[in-house]
Amino acid sequence: MKVILSGIKPTASSTHIGNYFGAIKQFVDLQKPENENLYFLANYHALTTVKSKKELEDNTWAMLREYIAYGLDPKESTIFLQSDVPEVTELAWILNCLAPMGLLERAHAYKDAMAKGKEANVGLFDYPVLMAADILIYQSIHVPVGKDQKQHVEIARDLAEKFNHHFGETFVLPEPLIMKETATVPGIDGDKMSKSYNNFVGAFEDEKEMGKKIMSIKTDSLGVDEAKDPEQSIIVQLLRLVGKPDVIKTVEEKFRKGGMGYGDAKKILLAETLEYFAPMRNRYETVSQKELESVVADGAKKARKIAQETMHEVRRKVGLV
Ligand code: TYM
Repeated sequence: MKVILSGIKPTASSTHIGNYFGAIKQFVDLQKPENENLYFLANYHALTTVKSKKELEDNTWAMLREYIAYGLDPKESTIFLQSDVPEVTELAWILNCLAPMGLLERAHAYKDAMAKGKEANVGLFDYPVLMAADILIYQSIHVPVGKDQKQHVEIARDLAEKFNHHFGETFVLPEPLIMKETATVPGIDGDKMSKSYNNFVGAFEDEKEMGKKIMSIKTDSLGVDEAKDPEQSIIVQLLRLVGKPDVIKTVEEKFRKGGMGYGDAKKILLAETLEYFAPMRNRYETVSQKELESVVADGAKKARKIAQETMHEVRRKVGLV
């Protein structure tokens, strides 16, 4: 069986449509009998930024509920919390001792924080090593992610090679799975959609809030009758993800010929977004807290068993008697 693993950081109250089209849609589509699927919430990673107990707890439960609402099925996937498998932090330590400082200094999350003059903590610097531990401890082959995580999966691969070189063949070399068309979903300002840039549209956000965000998508100042290039429009890029084919075609044609203003196009985008996510938004309301607790309790047991087996071998191989 092919082990497929991925995770999301609960650093906001909701996942956004970039998370969905870049990563979560792949998780759902990969639920097939020939795959062993493991999907978790990276709450240890979230601690690098979230400093409130309530916020971390609320975000975690909300995103877990969203996992189920999007279509992750606990019968087909092991769904769990990163912190229910504390063995990953032990593996992270062992991998830390193989990770060159230079490799981590070149990692995006840390480099971006430095470039923006933010004060980085050691957790943020070490973020890719904990992520490598997440991936390697389950012997994952494929890691479905958006493009922004490609470098992190490559670091995991590097560290697996280093470990195998020093201590003997132990880890499978993982590869990222990235969907070409949705590798980087743009946010309402045209930058990559991101929780930390606050430029996101949440799939489960209330209709009014979603409307406000979509109506504030950045555009140029071309008038209704003027021709517009669909390729340059954030509205069209997002519509291509959620819209029905005939609706996308109509908007693209009207943009090219002139005859549709940005305001109308945004209203169409809002309606199509709500329609696309309607079944998931409805399912969200039906998931109980009790159900979530039982899903993660089962998930933790399964995930932890695999992790403990790997760590037993790792401890023995590195000489921890
Ligand atoms: P996170 O929470 O930042 O993002 C979760 C997933 O969503 C994808 N993504 C996007 N894809 C396309 N367009 C966008 N605008 C966009 N924004 C986010 C991300 O690429 C990611 O796949 N480090 C990870 C969490 C993690 C992890 C792991 C992932 C921890 N350990 C092990 C895989 C394997 C993160 O912060 O994701």
